[in-house]
Amino acid sequence: MSNSIAIASGKGGVGKTTVAVNLALSLSQMGSKVSLMDADFGLANAHILLGINPRKTIRDVLKNNMLIEDVLETGPIGLKFVSGGNGLIDILNIDKGSKYQLIRALDPIAKYTDTLIVDIPAGASENSMTFASAVDRLVIILVGEPTSFMDAYTFIKTANLDYNLHNFSIVVNMAENEKAAHETFLKFQNIVSKFLDANLIFAGGIPKTKKIQNAIIKKLPVVLNEDAELEKLAFQRLLKNIIKAGENKHNGIRFFSKS
Ligand SMILES: Nc1ncnc2c1ncn2[C@@H]1O[C@H](COP(=O)(O)OP(=O)(O)O)[C@@H](O)[C@H]1O
Ligand SMILES: [Mg+2]
Repeated sequence: MSNSIAIASGKGGVGKTTVAVNLALSLSQMGSKVSLMDADFGLANAHILLGINPRKTIRDVLKNNMLIEDVLETGPIGLKFVSGGNGLIDILNIDKGSKYQLIRALDPIAKYTDTLIVDIPAGASENSMTFASAVDRLVIILVGEPTSFMDAYTFIKTANLDYNLHNFSIVVNMAENEKAAHETFLKFQNIVSKFLDANLIFAGGIPKTKKIQNAIIKKLPVVLNEDAELEKLAFQRLLKNIIKAGENKHNGIRFFSKS
């Protein structure tokens, strides 16, 4: 059965899209069939990182009743991609019914998907939470700054108390090294465990590197860059740990008709 992973953070600009795109491609490199949905509707940018100029976007499913299969683009290594569309203000805040309709509209892609990766918008809005609670595994991107801690904490608190989610994989992005990343994780875990009944695992760190930063200009995701061995290994390690993490089984709507 297809499984799903969401990449969230609370705060913007911490590397959600970078991680979502590179995890998706790392999984594809390992031979999995992967689909990626950019759920940052209206402000989407995963297509830029992928070097794809999407002809159709999620807006065509929501507003023009198009089928998901007609909107899917094929990216590098056979990655299936649904763009969230940008510059589209009318889909920034879609109603609850439309979000449910969209999650069900993705059901047909199960046929050619082992893993669906969802890039979640910043914030702990109902938009973010609906998609984050519809997946099996939830990944939170953290950077070692107070604002990131605060926003990630708010996100996890909302997910935990309002959506009954308990399992979170934490990725520390833009870390100096793996030791510093682990220390950042422990600090964050210490805060969370004081107040919430949430199970946090350390999925690993991603270093802050020029190759990751330049990927967007080159329109070549870093895991496809032949000279980026260090970065490739970091994303592969994340995958191994995320897959081992516990699943969330939210009793509301979920991807691939799981409820
Ligand atoms: N590990 C990293 N090293 C260097 N630059 C990074 C790293 N992670 C993200 N960035 C850069 O930071 C910016 C924000 O990343 P992005 O993935 O768009 O964040 P988000 O999706 O959370 O808003 C981008 O310019 C991206 O290239
Ligand atoms: Mg983003």
